Amino acid sequence: MRAVVYDRYGPADVLEVREVPVPRPAPGEVLVRVAAAGLNPADWRLRSGQFRFALRLRFPFVPGADLAGVVEAVGDGVDDVRSGQPVMAMQATRTGGACAEYAAVPREHLAPAPAGVPLLEAAGVPLCGSTALQALRDRAGLRAGLRAGQRLLVHGAAGGVGSLAVQVGRALGATVTAAASRDAAALLRDLGAEEVLDRGTVDLTRPPERLREAFDVVLDAANALSFRHARALLTPGGTAVSVNPFAERLSPGLLAPLRGGRRLRSVLVAPRAADLAVLSGWLAEGTVRPVVQRTLPLVEVRAAHRQLEAGHARGKTVLVVDPVLAGLVPGREVPA
Ligand SMILES: NC(=O)c1ccc[n+]([C@@H]2O[C@H](COP(=O)([O-])OP(=O)(O)OC[C@H]3O[C@@H](n4cnc5c(N)ncnc54)[C@H](OP(=O)(O)O)[C@@H]3O)[C@@H](O)[C@H]2O)c1
Repeated sequence: MRAVVYDRYGPADVLEVREVPVPRPAPGEVLVRVAAAGLNPADWRLRSGQFRFALRLRFPFVPGADLAGVVEAVGDGVDDVRSGQPVMAMQATRTGGACAEYAAVPREHLAPAPAGVPLLEAAGVPLCGSTALQALRDRAGLRAGLRAGQRLLVHGAAGGVGSLAVQVGRALGATVTAAASRDAAALLRDLGAEEVLDRGTVDLTRPPERLREAFDVVLDAANALSFRHARALLTPGGTAVSVNPFAERLSPGLLAPLRGGRRLRSVLVAPRAADLAVLSGWLAEGTVRPVVQRTLPLVEVRAAHRQLEAGHARGKTVLVVDPVLAGLVPGREVPA
């Protein structure tokens, strides 16, 4: 099969598209024919060697966490997934493997692809959608129905995590304010933000009076707002969630009583079938909509990584692995 591969850490030039063996699904795994692979900042950070001390890769490495495609075969012990079924999946960061024609995915990291959504678009959702869900529901305690009407601020709202967090926050019953660069305002309103703050003119480190203590939850999806600054935005007892997985260590929960009960929590996303199924359901009913900024063919993976590295994302960058399959809309067409 054709796959993106690299043999050492380095700049985007180390990425190659070449022939490698098709992976064999181990017991408990599913072999997926990949339609499209969503890219994430972690892909270029991993490739550059930034994480090498915490997470050592085994070379040759096939990158990519996010994918959507169609089940080709199942390993021993998998009896609830059938060949030909459209799925979306998230590989563990250390495992990678999404940027290839076939990927062997643990059953526990995959869910049915959403009906009515092209596989190309679904491919951008697993990692960022899971991050948003795990941050807002599990770390911040947002729950639809129970405490509906909580006020959520999403900082870095136009990126991959942010654009999904705005929508996941709404789905969990929150009223959402989005902070992002000015050009993203229309997009964010369209995604359901009640108010959009232009980060060029509203300085969240010195918030105007009306934003002080105004939010029950602040999600910093850009890893750009310190807890000291987030605290000023939080109601007493409110929760700030950081996408920096180590941030929470800097401000342990024990200190919360000294800060009016305000807490800092971190999220470290984990691939979970149940969470992917929740996201798939929201996508199918239109509660959440994928935002795909750009699509490139697999062979343009170097350009895609360079664009990711340049920042200023508006939603997701997706690599098209199989153009025909990428256009498949589950529930509307029978896969070939
Ligand atoms: N802990 C975890 O499990 C986990 C999971 C997923 C992602 N992450 C991390 O979360 C971060 C966001 O991921 P992503 O996929 O959403 O990235 P992304 O798609 O690149 O989006 C980042 C967004 O942040 C905005 N931004 C950049 N600098 C900013 C600043 N100083 N202040 C406010 N906004 C700023 C960017 O737009 P403008 O600069 O144009 O405003 C962009 O829209 C990354 O650092 C990623 O590594 C962590």
